[in-house]
Amino acid sequence: MPPFDLAETDKLLSTTRAVRRRLDFERPVERSVLLDCIRLSQQAPTGSNRQGWRWVIVTEPEKRLALATLYRKAAGDYLLTSGAKADAAGAAQTARVYGSAQYLAENMEKAPALVIPCIRVDHLPEDPPRRVWAGLIGSIMPAVWSFQLALRSRGLGSTLTTIHLQHADEAAALLGLPEGLMQTALLPVAYTKGLDFKPAKRPPVEDIVHWDAWDASRDGPGRWD
Ligand SMILES: Cc1cc2nc3c(=O)[nH]c(=O)nc-3n(C[C@H](O)[C@H](O)[C@H](O)COP(=O)(O)O)c2cc1C
Repeated sequence: MPPFDLAETDKLLSTTRAVRRRLDFERPVERSVLLDCIRLSQQAPTGSNRQGWRWVIVTEPEKRLALATLYRKAAGDYLLTSGAKADAAGAAQTARVYGSAQYLAENMEKAPALVIPCIRVDHLPEDPPRRVWAGLIGSIMPAVWSFQLALRSRGLGSTLTTIHLQHADEAAALLGLPEGLMQTALLPVAYTKGLDFKPAKRPPVEDIVHWDAWDASRDGPGRWD
């Protein structure tokens, strides 16, 4: 017998989507729920067990508006033009994502909580090599995903966004963040309108897995678009 109810855990893992249009902006989110979800996220792995995660939760309306304004400034017309390109290329799923992302950009400040997961970088050398970045991002994104899963299991939704990072310095000034702390994302969080999310269409797993050695005949540069 598996130690967990696989039907339930697989459903959680396969239906935790980027939620934008179905965020319920009218329903308040309790602080205790956000803290519960972040508490669960603290069980995620971190390199050297450093646990350098820090979370900034923005609920004040003026600050939410200021962050949303930075987000829109960074997005510019990128989402609209990318959506049109995807549409013209017949990439329906991607076109839908850009349409939904544009909706989020236009409404970001309405989410009851804007959550910014950060990670301490005060121990990093100047201009670190790639492997250090891999370790750093790998020490925050598992926690962010756990946070999103915990939200979903409680009837809330979120979207991991990174667009505002183009103006991370302005966001840091707005929130009084110290030097040595790196913002990694911004997640609007709200209860969801309805709970019936579905697995997304993805390529067959066999297409992205290589056993024992890379098989260049079916995957790799020249075949990626
Ligand atoms: C690193 C990263 C950055 C992302 N940045 C943004 C963003 O800035 N704005 C946005 O609306 N969605 C953003 N997304 C969400 C993706 O668009 C979304 O995960 C993807 O389209 C899959 O959607 P699904 O989870 O609903 O299947 C980001 C996702 C990741 C992993």
